[in-house]
Amino acid sequence: MTLEQEISKRRTFGIISHPDAGKTTLTEKLLLFGGAIQKAGAVKSSKIKDHARSDWMEIEKQRGISVATSVMGFNYEGIKINLLDTPGHQDFAEDTYRTLTAVDSVIMVIDCVKGVEMQTEKLMEVCRMRNTPVICFINKLDREGQDPFDLLDEIEEKLSIKVRPLSWPISMGKTFKGVYSLYEKSLKLFTPSKTKVEEAIEIDDINDPAIDGYVGENNARQLRADVELIEGVYSDFDINEYRSGEVAPVFFGSAVNNFGVKELLDTFIKIAPNPMPRETTVREVAPEEKKFTGFIFKIHANMDPKHRNRIAFLRVCSGKFERGANYLHVRQDKNIRFSNATAFMAQDRETVEEAWPGDIVGLYDTGNLKIGDTLTEGEKLMYTGIPSFSPEIFKEVINKDAMKTKQLEKGLLQLMEEGVAQLFSYQLGNRKVIGTVGVLQFEVIQFRLKNEYNATVEFAPQNIYKACWISSKDPQKMEEFLQSKQRHIARDKDDRLVFMAESKAWLQMVQDNFPEINFHFTSEFKENENAVS
Ligand code: G4P
Repeated sequence: MTLEQEISKRRTFGIISHPDAGKTTLTEKLLLFGGAIQKAGAVKSSKIKDHARSDWMEIEKQRGISVATSVMGFNYEGIKINLLDTPGHQDFAEDTYRTLTAVDSVIMVIDCVKGVEMQTEKLMEVCRMRNTPVICFINKLDREGQDPFDLLDEIEEKLSIKVRPLSWPISMGKTFKGVYSLYEKSLKLFTPSKTKVEEAIEIDDINDPAIDGYVGENNARQLRADVELIEGVYSDFDINEYRSGEVAPVFFGSAVNNFGVKELLDTFIKIAPNPMPRETTVREVAPEEKKFTGFIFKIHANMDPKHRNRIAFLRVCSGKFERGANYLHVRQDKNIRFSNATAFMAQDRETVEEAWPGDIVGLYDTGNLKIGDTLTEGEKLMYTGIPSFSPEIFKEVINKDAMKTKQLEKGLLQLMEEGVAQLFSYQLGNRKVIGTVGVLQFEVIQFRLKNEYNATVEFAPQNIYKACWISSKDPQKMEEFLQSKQRHIARDKDDRLVFMAESKAWLQMVQDNFPEINFHFTSEFKENENAVS
């Protein structure tokens, strides 16, 4: 097959949802269709349900599960599908953000009873940053949920995206009859079943009296009225609007009953984009370019503490990746050969000889690779769009065993390279502060430092509101600012300058006093923009 054919065969995507909306269930059903697993229950949930249970056993278990289900590749109707897992627990939101940099599209699961929840809103913001195409799957139609039109309005309002239903539910909850596919013009009748998949009934005309026979007169009347309203209110589905992230097509179903999932998958492979061009520091790179390029979006370290093995997850962006070839590690400006590379097919890992744009490859690494690193065949470009975000919670690292200072430093460095949290080193006094999205990460760090590096730490809470990356066009003004705010200046892992703001009001005041300094809540920014207002 040619490079172009390989690219057109690939769909790389992630499923995102608020915990409990049905992400794991939907994943499992999709894998069943792909023949990647034989029975339900094979995909272990990568979520941490109960905060109180988050002891070290749990943390280790989660790590084990999440490496096994990080990437699930399967074939369906001649299409190679790569499904990237994202942690559901909000404390690992940063992991989710990074994983989303490696996908070409997203399926968002929404619970029809709960509607759009907080985590969904946050995840959508990330999709919008990169104009990632989104398909919504409204789940749990076998329960009494909200009115479907209200749900659509809620999505448009809370997620700031236009929607276009491609299927429509006939009743809901106990009286749920099925869905009408507005895209295929067919009817699917609902029978609760965890394994069976119902055949669709082709309908040429929505006024066909046969519908009344299938779903009852009242439901048929309601369906016709709803369809008329939809066709009147929503403009025709335009695949380009979906692919540019402006419109989200919406499907209804019940994942646990395997209902509406096949329609979703069938439409997904038709409309979801195959690998697209991506921005780098130098130019846009098209997947069809003959020369290989790719970037690292995730690192998993020390699965076995006795062997310091790390797996770096590489997303292939252009050309063909070949095992054993020499590639330029752009940040370090040196050539590396990966003789040990893994493909992820469902839950098996197998050695990979070659991989194509859209594919994810696991590279065994001894410490050269960091999240965001780019590999090429020689060109000095770096993929962009993999920023660090300002954390929410900050704590100072207190070393409780001075004899193990070296181990602590090494451990901290490696955990930060893995992206567990962010480390900020203060200019004054050599203080080290860790920033995270949630409290759970501190438990993970403390446990892993002890277990993997034999270092003992405690954490002292810090009164910090945000970490702001700073820039200025005027070096003189920057120098003045750094002098004046010395006690609040730190460096991030890449030695970039960061201002640690104690409160929102104070940050505002500092901004007013230093108009020539730009403040940013993410580590990637346009020099002249002041992203914090
Ligand atoms: P998540 O990964 O998004 O967190 O959600 P998950 O798939 O684990 O689903 C959360 C709960 O919702 C599960 O129940 C699951 O069975 C249920 N669920 C998923 N799809 C549907 C659906 O279409 N209808 C209904 N009624 N329920 C659905 P649980 O009790 O938390 O776990 P389990 O014991 O059933 O596994």
